[in-house]
Amino acid sequence: MARILVTSALPYINGVKHLGNLAGSMLPADVYARYCRAAGHEVLFICATDEHGTPAELAAIEAGQTVAEYCAEQHDIQKHVGAGFSLSFDWFGRSSNEPNRRLTQHFADVLEDNGLIDERSSKQVYSVDDKRFLPDRYVEGTCPHCGFEKARGDQCDSCGTLLDPIQLINPYSSVSGSRNVEIRDTRHLYLLQTRMQDQVRAFVDARARDWPQLTTSIAYKWLDEGLIDRSITRDLSWGVPVMRNGKPRPGFENKVFYVWFDAPIEYIGSTVEWAEATGGNWERWWRTDKGADDVTYVEFMGKDNVAFHTVSFPVTILGSKEPWKLVDKLKAFNWLNWYGGKFSTSQKRGVFMDKALELLPGDYWRWYLTANAPESSDTAFTWEHFKSTVNSDLNDVLGNFVNRITKYAAAKFDSKVPEGGEPGEHERWMANELATRLPALIAHYEAMEFRKAAAETRAIWAAGNEYITKAAPWTAYKTSVDQAAVGIRTGLNLVALFGVIGQPIIPDTATKILESLGVPEGNRSLAASQLLAGDALLDALPRGMTIAVPPQLFTKIEDAHVVDWTQRFGGG
Ligand code: MF3
Ligand code: ZN
Repeated sequence: MARILVTSALPYINGVKHLGNLAGSMLPADVYARYCRAAGHEVLFICATDEHGTPAELAAIEAGQTVAEYCAEQHDIQKHVGAGFSLSFDWFGRSSNEPNRRLTQHFADVLEDNGLIDERSSKQVYSVDDKRFLPDRYVEGTCPHCGFEKARGDQCDSCGTLLDPIQLINPYSSVSGSRNVEIRDTRHLYLLQTRMQDQVRAFVDARARDWPQLTTSIAYKWLDEGLIDRSITRDLSWGVPVMRNGKPRPGFENKVFYVWFDAPIEYIGSTVEWAEATGGNWERWWRTDKGADDVTYVEFMGKDNVAFHTVSFPVTILGSKEPWKLVDKLKAFNWLNWYGGKFSTSQKRGVFMDKALELLPGDYWRWYLTANAPESSDTAFTWEHFKSTVNSDLNDVLGNFVNRITKYAAAKFDSKVPEGGEPGEHERWMANELATRLPALIAHYEAMEFRKAAAETRAIWAAGNEYITKAAPWTAYKTSVDQAAVGIRTGLNLVALFGVIGQPIIPDTATKILESLGVPEGNRSLAASQLLAGDALLDALPRGMTIAVPPQLFTKIEDAHVVDWTQRFGGG
């Protein structure tokens, strides 16, 4: 049994996330965590809301709330919506909570002790009318690269270039709109990443063979361009206060740490929150001197987050010279596209997690978004494709099979796993299918190839359908009840197996199946060792055991739904 720490990139607090966010971090992290649990490993699955920075402050202003109120409310909403998708976090924390504050201040202290932090003066946009500095998104203006007139201080949304706010042409305050701004000097803490270049490269070199190409290519791009010293404080009031050895740092009373400095530290902070709430031992997961040396740490995120996790956060960890756990495997995702463009929170484009759950239960979305995960390239969401995937995979291939077999067992075999008959050629065919397909499924999960895992899951469901067509127990029943019994017994064992292999991707449906059949706990494992014997699998349920017909698992998406949803959400 291995110990596996799984984290999903922390969803930003400024509103419910869209399906692209779900598909690129939280959902695959959950599928993987569930797979690992079902395979018998000890798993700790951690997430949190990322609550600092200018987008949080601006969203609060727009909502007419204090930023603390806004974040508390949005955290609860995101937590609730996550539960609606059955995201099985062991803890869903908040980066604004006390543990992260302490840890962030601790890291800043030890980094400074190690000569890796410098106080420097820099130029910032200052709004005379607002009487404040305008960091990051507080200032907008014309992009110096492409001429887009509403570029934000930290990035141009039109050409994607990362910006320093003082580069903007014709800058104005995004809070008041005032153009009465000037460039003033302000002091900030700089993390001397240049001094860590060699150590970070050595770390990436050591991990690279375990990382997918998307991850390594981004990490090396940043390393090859050369790390730069980056400012880790901002002129804001909402965030982790800048302290030095437990006392306010002179000159920094109105400043906080930069959101990208404290956010990844919240992976640890959220684990501390979990420990405080449950009595768990967080150091066993994070301190290599306290037992975390045998933990495998796996991170999930969209590709825009990769540089922060392969380079910036490792600078913090390695620079501390303390025995913290570093990431082992890092799975990154491309974009899920929405009718030619991207899903967008700021432009409210696409389907958001709360609205999706109003249309259909979580498993429908989980299945679609895993089967079409944007793994090797961007993928496109369309209503038509969603409909055909759900109707074919979930209704026709899985739902029908479960329904047909269990109903027939109820009608003709007194709701029991039939006892008579012995396996023949069709059962041997099915056992052979499983003998090759189940190891392939496990291998895809181990490799974190989720599209392939979904495709193999579906292929196993389809093989079950093919088997039952060959065995045709309903026809056999007319001439030999024993022969029908073999078919229905094998079919019921397949239903149970479909529940077992469905656990990572469609957990609610899997639970319905496993509970209705009363599949013993010991038969629910996805451990390779317990899944390999195909013919034993087909006779695993105790003969004579009573089963119930599961409630209807899925309903079909009709053309009328597609028309309605296209109107409500756009697309098409
Ligand atoms: N909130 C960030 C985003 O949405 C992700 C933060 S991941 C963390 O892109 F590790 F830094 F917290
Ligand atoms: Zn631009």
